[in-house]
This record gives sequence, C-alpha cells and structure tokens, in this order.
Amino acid sequence: MFEFSADPDLPKPERYRQLSEAASALIEGEPDSVANMANIAALMWEFLPGINWAGFYRMVNGELVLGPFVGRPACIRIPLGHGVCGAAAASGATQLVEDVHSFPGHIACDAASRSELVVPVKRDGRVIAVIDIDSPELARFDQEDAAGVEALAVAIVDSI
Ligand code: SME
Repeated sequence: MFEFSADPDLPKPERYRQLSEAASALIEGEPDSVANMANIAALMWEFLPGINWAGFYRMVNGELVLGPFVGRPACIRIPLGHGVCGAAAASGATQLVEDVHSFPGHIACDAASRSELVVPVKRDGRVIAVIDIDSPELARFDQEDAAGVEALAVAIVDSI
C-alpha cells in the first residue's frame, strides 16, 4: 500500500515539490509506462484540490490519444492543433486557460470544467505526451501550477 497525504495548507510550490517527489518514488525502477502514468494521474488527483480531471494524452502517430487518467470518460483522439491539448502538443507550450468557454475550439469532456492546464511532456525536444488537468473552478490554475506541472513533466518523462 502507498500512503501519500497532501497537506491542504501547503503553499503551491511545496505541494508540487512533494507531488514530483512522490511520483519519482512511485515510478522508480518500473518500466511499464501505462502503470506509471496511471499512478501519476492518481497522485495528481490526491495532491491537487479543486480538480475534476487529471491525466495524460499520448502522441501516437501524429495525434493525441487518451492515456491513463482520473475523472469522467474523455474524448479518445485529439488531432494536433485541436482543443487545449492539441494546442499544447502542436506548439510545445504550456496552455493555461482561465476560462475554457473563451478558448476557441475547447473540447468539452466534462461540462462542469471551467479552467484547464495542459503541459507538454518533451523528450529530446519532441512532445511525447501532454499532462491535462481540468477544474470546475474558474481560473483555478496560475503560473505556480504551470511551473509545478512542468517540473513534474521533466521528472517523469523517461518513465512514461
Ligand atoms: N478539454 C481538452 C480535452 C480533454 S478533456 O479536458 C479531458 C481540450 O480542449 O483539449
């Protein structure tokens, strides 16, 4: 059994540091990428308050394909350049969306989602996946969240 508890009063940078540390501990020595992404999705769910979806889309033959996640069932394939995830994958840049209703082409998987953070996971400069986190709260994510998830992406890239 793995016990990880996130203190709700921790400042965000410390919360994300603990999340990355827990992720690194869980995936260490485990070569199975599906198992690792599943555990990382579960950890994001444990550590990040106010979210309703957390998980991965993987780059497969030039499009994004749904990977392990926690949340409601989601759309399976996203072409590059479509939606928030496709924008992150196509540009290689983090997408911080305060209000998904004002993001052109946003793909609604859960009608409750109001804000979203998508971070590309890059290996040797190429996007191999994106980490997607949704929230039912408007403007749930800020630059500290973006920096925290970007650090997580770097910590796990060789294990997914
Ligand atoms: N909203 C995303 C689609 C994935 S779901 O949020 C899980 C997008 O616009 O790319």
